[in-house]
Amino acid sequence: MLINRKPYRTIWFENNIVKIINQTKLPHQFIIKDLKTVKDSINAIKNMEVRGAPLIGVTAAYGLVLSIIEKKDQSFLVKSSEDLIAARPTAINLKWAVDRMMKKLSGVNSNEILRIALEEAKAIMDEDVNFCKNIGLNGLKIIEEIAKKKKDTVNILTHCNAGWLATIDWGTATSPIYHAYQKGIKIHVWVDETRPRNQGANLTSYELNEEGIPNTIIADNTGGILMQRGQVDMCIVGSDRTLSTGDVCNKIGTYLKALAAKDNNVPFYVALPSSTIDWSIKNVKDIPIEERDPTELSHIQGLNEDNKLQKILIYPQRSKTMNLAFDITPAKYVTGLITEKGVCEASEKGLKKLFDNK
Ligand code: MRU
Repeated sequence: MLINRKPYRTIWFENNIVKIINQTKLPHQFIIKDLKTVKDSINAIKNMEVRGAPLIGVTAAYGLVLSIIEKKDQSFLVKSSEDLIAARPTAINLKWAVDRMMKKLSGVNSNEILRIALEEAKAIMDEDVNFCKNIGLNGLKIIEEIAKKKKDTVNILTHCNAGWLATIDWGTATSPIYHAYQKGIKIHVWVDETRPRNQGANLTSYELNEEGIPNTIIADNTGGILMQRGQVDMCIVGSDRTLSTGDVCNKIGTYLKALAAKDNNVPFYVALPSSTIDWSIKNVKDIPIEERDPTELSHIQGLNEDNKLQKILIYPQRSKTMNLAFDITPAKYVTGLITEKGVCEASEKGLKKLFDNK
């Protein structure tokens, strides 16, 4: 997608260095950062310089490439894989990508290991671009239907950033939006600010602006009244882990939007690549939900009067905080899952129809 009219992916590999866009500085500063060691990759994932389920998966895959460049040593590689998986436990794409890499590398001799690791990391990255593009084409059909009936601007509400910045290109929830816009459908996006880290305001609105798509940032509590007033035609959100039952784990606050959507008959879609589906567990209680640093709530970052990035405390100094990063939306509130293979019901039956080898 475009930044200053120049096309970018969110991650690339050049001269044995992994390049990322440091998302903790957006929207105010566009900084490309070098990752030279596996430790750099782990820190970039932990500190959310890269974030979003598909992107952290690809960063972890390239983290293993960096581990091999550092040391061709099996126990170092295994330790690297464990540390990468532990960096952010909720989004399943991270473990999925590391497991896929380790399976591919198992038994490979040291002359071949770097070449094979590089090929597999690139395959995971390119596959994600394709998945997201197809999610867009499948979701486009839903938007086209709404546009046909409405004959006016289609208002779409989204939560957090499930945009190209959360993936490699296109995004998950935003891909149908980009495809619809490119087809000339009139679109407007309600962007949930998404406290505490404001990925909606800082990242989704930023990337939609760069592509010229009309959007409005709203406080996280505003979606309900907009739905009551008929100002939301559909919701599309992403996912960090979707179970085979169709239950969706996504950024904190997603569940409340789904409840409001149900109450107001607003279609609520979840867009996700198959790498986000966890086929191994059935009970949402088994999903590890990240509880993150309290300062994400108590402090906020922005530009000060001298145009410099600054973090300030916004809560009473002695107040306690609780910072759960994700919640669960039960399948019964999800109108459909938009995947690279098509749109299906959020249920075991629905998913099995699309992914019959699972
Ligand atoms: O904590 P983050 O910013 O990594 O969380 C990402 C999300 O929750 C996104 O909304 C998303 O839907 C998953 S990534 C496509």
